[in-house]
Amino acid sequence: MKNTYYHQLLENNKNWVKAKTDEDPDYFEDLSKGQKPPVLWIGCADSRVPANEITGTHPGELFVHRNIANMVVHTDMNMLSVLDYAVNHLKVKHVIVCGHYGCGGVQAAMQNKSLGLINKWVRNIKEVYKDNKTELRKIDNEKLRFDRLVELNVKAQVYDLAKTSIVQQAWKDETGLEIHGWVYELKDGVIKDLRVSMDSAAHLDEIFTLDLD
Ligand code: CO
Repeated sequence: MKNTYYHQLLENNKNWVKAKTDEDPDYFEDLSKGQKPPVLWIGCADSRVPANEITGTHPGELFVHRNIANMVVHTDMNMLSVLDYAVNHLKVKHVIVCGHYGCGGVQAAMQNKSLGLINKWVRNIKEVYKDNKTELRKIDNEKLRFDRLVELNVKAQVYDLAKTSIVQQAWKDETGLEIHGWVYELKDGVIKDLRVSMDSAAHLDEIFTLDLD
């Protein structure tokens, strides 16, 4: 094997382990005892949006789920399992959906090009477009329309989180769970809080509120 980039990753790992243990000999031993992260991060799989790095957090602080365009899809067993585990077992206090401007998944949804398997995933974002068509059509500038769809998509995912029985049960049990929507700007690294946070089902359309025990 001649791929030096690949070998470099393992080399980087050795250096990282050394730096961490030089600083604190018990670093890994302590982390291995268990996790109690206060946050579940639902972000895009994009390589330029590393959850820990952009929030200044360390191993043990963020429970992370990432997929194309940070989607909360109710038939996605992976996402639901992560959400259930994070809320009911790890007892996270915050669920943050973090999208990003320039998201390839959102951009793909704005076009009519067929993308094979990805069509099925992107379809969920097309629904967000359709639901907000009146607002989006008023934006002449394509870049600004794209940015707005990124924001509207995050907002829709926050609402989709609120529609799950997992989140509604936590609210009913008054665990203090809050859900939030953010957008990361690739061009300057700044996170914008969309101010769509929810800590109860109060603002959810009543058709989505579930009768829970
Ligand atoms: Co993306």
